Amino acid sequence: MNTNTFEKDVLTGLQSNPKRLYSKYFYDDKGSAIFQQIMHMPEYYLPGCETEILRLRAKDIIRKLPHKSYDVIELGAGDGSKTALFLDPLVREKEKLTYIPLDISPEILSVNEKIMEEKLPGLCVKPIAGDYFETLKNISSGKNPKIILFLGSNIGNFEGEKALDFIRFVKSFMRKGDHLMLGVDLKKHPRTILAAYDDPAGITKKFNINLLERINRELKGNFITAEFDHYASYDPLSGATKSFLISKAAQEVRVAGQTITFHPYEPIHMEISQKYSLQDLDQIRLKAGFKKDHHFTDSKAYFSISLFEV
Ligand code: AVI
Repeated sequence: MNTNTFEKDVLTGLQSNPKRLYSKYFYDDKGSAIFQQIMHMPEYYLPGCETEILRLRAKDIIRKLPHKSYDVIELGAGDGSKTALFLDPLVREKEKLTYIPLDISPEILSVNEKIMEEKLPGLCVKPIAGDYFETLKNISSGKNPKIILFLGSNIGNFEGEKALDFIRFVKSFMRKGDHLMLGVDLKKHPRTILAAYDDPAGITKKFNINLLERINRELKGNFITAEFDHYASYDPLSGATKSFLISKAAQEVRVAGQTITFHPYEPIHMEISQKYSLQDLDQIRLKAGFKKDHHFTDSKAYFSISLFEV
C-alpha cells in the first residue's frame, strides 16, 4: 500500500463532514489477525453459511457450468481454504482446470498454493500478486471460459452504486459463457445482522480501533483510542450495516502534521457492509447486463452464492 495514498485518504476523510475512514485500510497485519478472530465469532454467521453452500450445493452450482475446461479466477483469494471446497468437486467434473488466485499479499498467495497442493494435488495453480483492479487486466485474454469468484460478502463493502460499478468493471473482462460467482450476505432479521457487527466480546470494536492505532503508527497520529467508542447500526430499509467510532468528548487529534477537531459524540464512519435481497441481486444482474442468474442459499437462507452468466 502506498503510504501517500493512505495519508491522503485519511486526511481527506477526517477533514470531511461527516468524518470518514475506509475499511480497506483495516487489513494491516494486526487487522488481518483480528479479522480471523471475527470469522470465528459465534455471532458472525457469514463464513459458516458460505461454507455450507460450498459443501452442500457445489454439485448444483457445477451443473450450471457446462464447459469442459475453465480458468477459475478468484478476486481477493486469501488462503483459498474455503474455495478448495468448491474446486474439489469441480476438478473431478472438468477435463482441464486452472486456478488463478489474485491477492494483494504474496505471502498469503504462497499459503494458498500450499493449501491447494495439499488438498488438491495436481491442480494447476497460477497465483498473481497485486491489486486486482490491475491484475484482472492480465488474465482477461486467456482462451478458456472463465469463472470469476468474489466470495466472502466482499461486495458488501462497496458503498451504494460502487458495487454495481465494480460488477460492471469485472464484466468488462468477461466473454459470452463466462460466469461471475458472488458470495453475498442476504437481508434477514435486523437483530441477527446487528449482532454480527456488535459482538459483546468487543472484537469488532478492536477491529475498528486498530485503524486509529495504525494511523498512530504509520502517520504520526496521537489518537487516544480509549476516547472513542464503537457503534454499529443496521437499516432494514436500505440493507446497510454501518460501523462508526464515536468521539466520547471534545478533543483535538494530530495526524500527519494536521489538527483534527472532534465534537462530543461526533462519529467517524468506518465501514459499510451492505445486505441484499435476492430481488436486489436480480436487479443488479440486469443493470450490469448479465444474461441469467442462479442463487444458491444455505438452509437458513442467510447467505447466497449467486452465479451471473454473461
Ligand atoms: C470483509 N467483509 C466482508 C466483512 C464484512 O462483513 O463486512 C468485514 C467485517 N467488518 C466487521 N466484521 C467483519
